[in-house]
Amino acid sequence: MKDDGHAAKFVRAAKSAEDICQRFEQQDPAAFPMTGEAWLQLSRMSYDSTLGLPDLDKAPAPVKPKTFPSFTKEYRKTAYDALDPTLPALSAEDKSIAVTGDGSGIGAATALRLSQAGASSISIIGRRANNLESTRSNTESLVPGAQVYTSDVAQKDAMNATFKAIHDHVGEIHVLVNNAGYKPTVAPAVSAIKDLDVEEWWRCFEVNIKGSFLASQSFLQYKSTDAVVLYVTTALSHFTGFPSHSSYSSSKAGAVRVFSTLQAEHPELRVVCVHLGVINTAGKVSGAKQAGEPDDVSLPAGTMVWLASPKADFLKGKYIWANWDVTSLAS
Ligand SMILES: NC(=O)c1ccc[n+]([C@@H]2O[C@H](COP(=O)([O-])OP(=O)(O)OC[C@H]3O[C@@H](n4cnc5c(N)ncnc54)[C@H](OP(=O)(O)O)[C@@H]3O)[C@@H](O)[C@H]2O)c1
Repeated sequence: MKDDGHAAKFVRAAKSAEDICQRFEQQDPAAFPMTGEAWLQLSRMSYDSTLGLPDLDKAPAPVKPKTFPSFTKEYRKTAYDALDPTLPALSAEDKSIAVTGDGSGIGAATALRLSQAGASSISIIGRRANNLESTRSNTESLVPGAQVYTSDVAQKDAMNATFKAIHDHVGEIHVLVNNAGYKPTVAPAVSAIKDLDVEEWWRCFEVNIKGSFLASQSFLQYKSTDAVVLYVTTALSHFTGFPSHSSYSSSKAGAVRVFSTLQAEHPELRVVCVHLGVINTAGKVSGAKQAGEPDDVSLPAGTMVWLASPKADFLKGKYIWANWDVTSLAS
């Protein structure tokens, strides 16, 4: 990727949205791997909430460090001071928190960070018991009451039973992190629509949409009045026409709409969708295979702690990227 600030220069110099597109289209594709149309669309959608697209002229001038646009001057790639889980303002004391898919990767790091922020309980939810147990033992010294629930988010009965069991154990639940995710594992060469196995393709929708829907639906029965619901999405949900990702990108985009609906139906909640960066996790969904310079897992984990705190109240119903500096967003 040769781009480094050129994009920002074009955008600032441009007179209109169309002008931005034209300027991008004239560039060497190797230097600007996204088309102008795709980038403009991404910029617009990223900046605004899931609740409607803004007038581009009202958005701050975007900058485009490395590959992606950013609506804050600082484009973060690792945790920074404002995300320190020991900050009193980020304290999760007295909060019971449920995280799905936290037996590995981003979820496991998030559970650990939330424990460092003093959560009163962490409920660890996923399918592979060994992984879940490993997360529990890592958090044990910080949250003695951390509990493992071995269940599939895509199964209605399992989700109902899991959230009932959490409630029986800790009482009302304050934060739900919908992190469990799925991406087809087939090789890129056969991941085009014409070649995809429909069952594998549909599995994305089962986990990324139905699973997060079921976890949230069960959670609603046991939530605290001013609870927080976070949904882990991906930057790919912004793209149109991104080859080989038809099920992953569209299932994550569809789930974003589900969560904007949840926010509208429950104004008392704080619902935030977040693209967590490009993280080189061992899991099947790692985006790092497509992008050159991965972000550190501390960035999404720290961002989750911040989003769970009252500091993020102004982001109700929004869709943000973990790479955007939270202090700048707040100001
Ligand atoms: N890594 C990236 O660059 C990146 C970028 C943007 C967004 N994301 C999103 O971040 C989230 C975490 O991804 P990751 O990179 O940390 O990969 P990961 O380690 O593979 O995490 C995915 C987790 O989801 C769980 N899971 C999958 N299907 C499940 C089901 N049916 N029921 C319950 N749990 C299920 C998996 O555990 P079990 O298989 O044991 O159940 C696993 O722990 C995903 O939603 C992903 O789409 C990742």
